[in-house]
Amino acid sequence: MNLSRRDLLKLGAGAAAGALAGPARSAAELVTRAIPSSGERLPVVGIGTNRYRGGSEAELAPLRETLKTFASAGGKVIDTAPMYGSSEVVLGQLIAGLGIRKQLFLATKVYASGRESGAEEMNDSFKRLQTDRIDLIQVHNLSDTATQLATMREGKRAGRYRYIGVTTSRDGQYEEMEAVLKSEALDFVQVDYSIDNRTAAERILPLALERRVAVLVNLPFGRARLFSSVRGKPLPAWASEFDCTSWAQFFLKYVVGHPAVTVAIPGTRRPEHVLDNLGAARGRLPDQAQRRKMEQFFDAL
Ligand SMILES: NC(=O)c1ccc[n+]([C@@H]2O[C@H](COP(=O)([O-])OP(=O)(O)OC[C@H]3O[C@@H](n4cnc5c(N)ncnc54)[C@H](OP(=O)(O)O)[C@@H]3O)[C@@H](O)[C@H]2O)c1
Repeated sequence: MNLSRRDLLKLGAGAAAGALAGPARSAAELVTRAIPSSGERLPVVGIGTNRYRGGSEAELAPLRETLKTFASAGGKVIDTAPMYGSSEVVLGQLIAGLGIRKQLFLATKVYASGRESGAEEMNDSFKRLQTDRIDLIQVHNLSDTATQLATMREGKRAGRYRYIGVTTSRDGQYEEMEAVLKSEALDFVQVDYSIDNRTAAERILPLALERRVAVLVNLPFGRARLFSSVRGKPLPAWASEFDCTSWAQFFLKYVVGHPAVTVAIPGTRRPEHVLDNLGAARGRLPDQAQRRKMEQFFDAL
């Protein structure tokens, strides 16, 4: 299943179309990072689906188009959770319909207390996602972590999960996250990190590097908060030094420019935003000095 360059350009607008100038880009051109526990490489930009809901064709059509665009442009990592309403069901249905399961890296979560209810929720995810293998299963917001990790390890040994991890999206849980990172063998952690929310870079990211744990970054746009700060403002000219053509790419390149970050998972339900966001996984990424300059620029807005 491939979109032609014309299809992509039709979907793309502004920066997204600009990012596609030249022949249609393929997965091979996306910047990738290795999962430390396996060496498997993933494109540094994925997609978050916490707002994927619906049952009617009118609700599903734009989501289908968004996923189709994501896969056609080489995207791999999709993050969901049973807590996100019908997100897993919608994804299962659309991914099966599009026939794209094989090229994707599916990450979901469990939010439960107790062994039985956790195991039941994890089993249900396979049905909802219509798959017999989940690439990454994560303890959602550190809920009953030790119990759920034990079940996940059994599932990993049985080949049902390829990787296991834990998530948070708030500073209040960082202390617990640090303790888990130090005491448990994990493949992944997922944490909130963005140019205006940098605490993870002080506490979680260095520890993940040291423990050789892959990092998924949630809320890279601060739930779209970042876009309000720059509305009507032009990108600084020096953004072209790291091949950045839109504010979304500025924010994502900042995040994935951090050496501990494996994949950022911006949430979107729009094909043109998928193309814009995947543009952040193309070309150069900012180095440490450039990232510092980005922080100073943003802080002065
Ligand atoms: N504790 C946890 O485990 C946890 C917590 C929170 C989130 N998450 C995960 O992280 C993912 C991302 O978080 P999020 O979606 O809440 O926040 P986010 O990624 O920081 O921001 C999403 C918002 O940005 C907009 N957007 C996306 N691309 C854009 C672009 N190129 N230009 C302009 N606007 C753009 C989206 O609107 P459009 O739809 O219009 O593009 C949406 O309003 C979630 O989907 C979920 O998978 C996990």
